[in-house]
Amino acid sequence: MSDIRPETGVCYYPEHWPEDLWEKDAKGMVEAGISWVRIAEFSWIKMEPEDGVYDFSWLDRAIETLGGAGLKIILCTPTATPPKWLVDKMPDMLAVDEDGQTRHYGSRRHYSFSHQGYIKECERITEQLARRYGANPYVAAWQTDNEYGCHDTAISWCESAKLRFRQWLENRYETIEDLTEAWGTIFWSMSYQSFDQIELPNMTVTEANPIHNMDFRRFATEEIVKFDQAQIRIIRKYSGDKPISHNFMGDFNQFNSRPVAANLDIATWDSYPLGFLQNMQKNARKDGKLEIDCLRVGDPDFQAFHHDLYRGMARLWIMEQQPGPVNWAAYNPIPAKGAVRMWSWEAFAHDAEVVSYFRWRQAPFAQEQMHAGLMYRDNQPAPGLAEVRQVNDELSKVSLSKTQKSSIALIHDYEADWMSELDGQSEDFYYLRLVLDMYRAVRQNGGSVDVIGPDDNIDGYKLILLPSVLHVSDDLINRLSKTEALILAGPRTGLKTKNFQLPDRLVNDGLVSITGFKTTRIDALPARLPIKASYKNIEGEVSIWREEGEVTGALLAQCADCMPLLTKGNIGSYLCAWPDEALLKEICKDFMLSAGIDCYDMPAYLRVRQRGEHLIFTYYGPDEVSIPLSFEGEFVLGGREMKQADVTIMKIAVSD
Ligand code: GAL
Repeated sequence: MSDIRPETGVCYYPEHWPEDLWEKDAKGMVEAGISWVRIAEFSWIKMEPEDGVYDFSWLDRAIETLGGAGLKIILCTPTATPPKWLVDKMPDMLAVDEDGQTRHYGSRRHYSFSHQGYIKECERITEQLARRYGANPYVAAWQTDNEYGCHDTAISWCESAKLRFRQWLENRYETIEDLTEAWGTIFWSMSYQSFDQIELPNMTVTEANPIHNMDFRRFATEEIVKFDQAQIRIIRKYSGDKPISHNFMGDFNQFNSRPVAANLDIATWDSYPLGFLQNMQKNARKDGKLEIDCLRVGDPDFQAFHHDLYRGMARLWIMEQQPGPVNWAAYNPIPAKGAVRMWSWEAFAHDAEVVSYFRWRQAPFAQEQMHAGLMYRDNQPAPGLAEVRQVNDELSKVSLSKTQKSSIALIHDYEADWMSELDGQSEDFYYLRLVLDMYRAVRQNGGSVDVIGPDDNIDGYKLILLPSVLHVSDDLINRLSKTEALILAGPRTGLKTKNFQLPDRLVNDGLVSITGFKTTRIDALPARLPIKASYKNIEGEVSIWREEGEVTGALLAQCADCMPLLTKGNIGSYLCAWPDEALLKEICKDFMLSAGIDCYDMPAYLRVRQRGEHLIFTYYGPDEVSIPLSFEGEFVLGGREMKQADVTIMKIAVSD
């Protein structure tokens, strides 16, 4: 069962450095135990300095040098940075922001996914690359573009998007009468007589019709899928079955990654734990404790959640991992000693096949000068490199087992995220925060989770969590009703139709019988005004979102003012409010135990993930801890006593 050996990689920019450094760099990577190198995602201007004038000679030499040194190359299409001559040729390819301003040339991602002329240009450069390097033995994998949607670029409010959106609406609704009905346009006389009258939902006097926005987001996802597919088709033609990836992001909801990942072999994502901790502060609970305790290691659940999210879509790699301080967050601290190593092991614990670090050497010019690399500018190793070396050394000694399915599934839904954003109600309702809170509660009890989409198979799970699946389809209700699993839904679940309207009877009846609760009114609150609530002997608080309604099943817990907190129906339960950490941990513990899932009394900030016959422990807290004695097995890395940023791996006996 122990037969899997993950690898490491690094992002490298040969075009940034004199050629006489390349060989030395390649040697340095190999010496550190690195196996993969990702190149070329921003180098279009070097490949094609003028329209139709190609120069791949430098890339030939770079590939020869890196590959010849023993590295496997991930070659990227350069379409995230169209050159200036191309933009000048087709200025309307530039994206337009929500305020109607054209986004200028001068950084990156300056294009609209809907511009058909730009897609043709992308096909042309991809064809050149794939034809030249598809069969190259050193090129072992591909990446399309770079971070779709980064810098708010998933959506462009441009003319090409508007025309294609009209067509998309016509395909979806067929007649204007059907659209008018689905959108409820009679409200404020917003009706149309033809699809040609429909504008984009920006720059309206007050908010646009939320379904108009919702459909525009659905459309935007399909545009990205098409854009990506255009490149994939060409790469496959020349590169056979070499895997194709795209690098997704963390805390990102502008488009639905699932249909994009469905066409890829590998879903990679870019993991910057300290940057994310800082940027997530706006949505954090206000006591600031997590930020203080984890300033230099990051949120103990944020990376893990995204690993689980993307491994639910395809094979998982981390294409970029923070190697030291970054430059783009509100504050950019130095990671704790050992953190780069621990993040790598956290990723391997969650099935990552490769962890690749961004970047090899710090760049002394342009936008990211303050971003660390594994090497300093003067070619001295930066502290991250020693940790990467250590990871590789450890990987050569410990091989991991294949992951089995988890007992717990958490249903994550991009459409629910969009709906809750478009429907506000409490300004503090932030979908990912709720999902993370529930995910965290399971991890605090020692559980491992599969994050799945609403259309994914739910067979074989013992516990299914549905934090705010705003629209629960009839198909999902049907499947939930038949599962053997215990279900914990809510809050804010089942409260909208697919067309973003209130269901006739407020909540779908099928869901009501599952959860024993029928919502009638919402008490939407500021996070700073919580309400006392208790569950068993835990006293805590709920905040942001509470639901009033009819308890059709049993009432298991309530708030201090007698509004419901938790109900029970025939096969599941409903959380009628958003509980704090202590309450949620206890509630999840009871559900795990009732579902027959082992729970552990985990010290704060200690996390574990089971990967086959290995338990991989990572520790994020500031004080020293001891792994509870209830975990028994053979230590294959580290030991029972842990301090911040430590990793321990224990081999256990598992029954098949
Ligand atoms: C990522 C991006 C990289 C680099 C990095 C800096 O979002 O893909 O190109 O900018 O951030 O942390």
